[in-house]
Amino acid sequence: MLVYVNGTILPLEEASISPLDRGFIFGDAVYEVVRFWKGRPYRLEEHVARLRDGLSAVRIEVPAEVLAQVAPRLVEANGLSAQDAIVYLQVSRGPAPRSHAFPQVSQPTVFAFARVSDPPPAGPARLMLIADERWGRCDVKAVQLLPNVLAAQAARDAGMQDALLVRDGLALETTRGNLFVRGADGVLRTAPNGPRILPGVTRQAALEAAAALAIPVEERAVTVEELFLAREAFLTSTTLLCQAIGEVDGRRIGDGAAGPATSAISTRLRDEFQGVRSAAPAGS
Ligand code: PDD
Repeated sequence: MLVYVNGTILPLEEASISPLDRGFIFGDAVYEVVRFWKGRPYRLEEHVARLRDGLSAVRIEVPAEVLAQVAPRLVEANGLSAQDAIVYLQVSRGPAPRSHAFPQVSQPTVFAFARVSDPPPAGPARLMLIADERWGRCDVKAVQLLPNVLAAQAARDAGMQDALLVRDGLALETTRGNLFVRGADGVLRTAPNGPRILPGVTRQAALEAAAALAIPVEERAVTVEELFLAREAFLTSTTLLCQAIGEVDGRRIGDGAAGPATSAISTRLRDEFQGVRSAAPAGS
């Protein structure tokens, strides 16, 4: 595997980052995950824009365009141009003697790798409700993911695919994807962008697909009660695109399989990802 560290593409075994790097010591870093279909990135500009917002929120001075420059090069260098691949890129505040506030001088570390995408999960997701213990800026794609890691592991220990994070009675998102719920009234709901969720690139694509399909949408988080009464529900993320939710805490959602809105949106996202269809404006 060839990776990228601070301007150089080199074998993983030869790559080195200081143990004093603040990304390692404090989780003082932000990241992005971009997916490529046969060498073509999916919504790369949106990932660059989110990285720019994240870098600005945590005050790391690196141009976000580094993602657009590095990601395609890494895909090609790793011989992944004919595949379904992902690029992970993180930017940390760099190495410095351990002290919480920013160092006087920092040299940020940019690290990235590319690999083949995981195969899509077999069947609808089985999720477990877990209290959301993350920080107050979930809109920043920060590397410090310990609450997500612990929740994901608790779900796995229970034989579930992932944890669905609940705060103040609202089902917000999973440890690594956004939540959409279609109620008995036919309206598709997802939590509004803001500090409680990550503004998912695929979430935005799903909203555009829903508009094009004339599916009514409301950007409002659903309660756990509403989730259990839903007609259908699904997750979106770079790695999943769109996956139906089959059950939550052992209770079936809808009829436990992909409903009509889920199937239609899933097809549109896959077509867009694979270049069969461009991101279509509403009404098309
Ligand atoms: N996760 N919510 C959270 C908490 C996430 O970590 C992610 C992405 C999403 C979906 O965002 P997008 O559609 O832009 O991928 C929502 C990535 C894939 C990860 O951490 O691996």
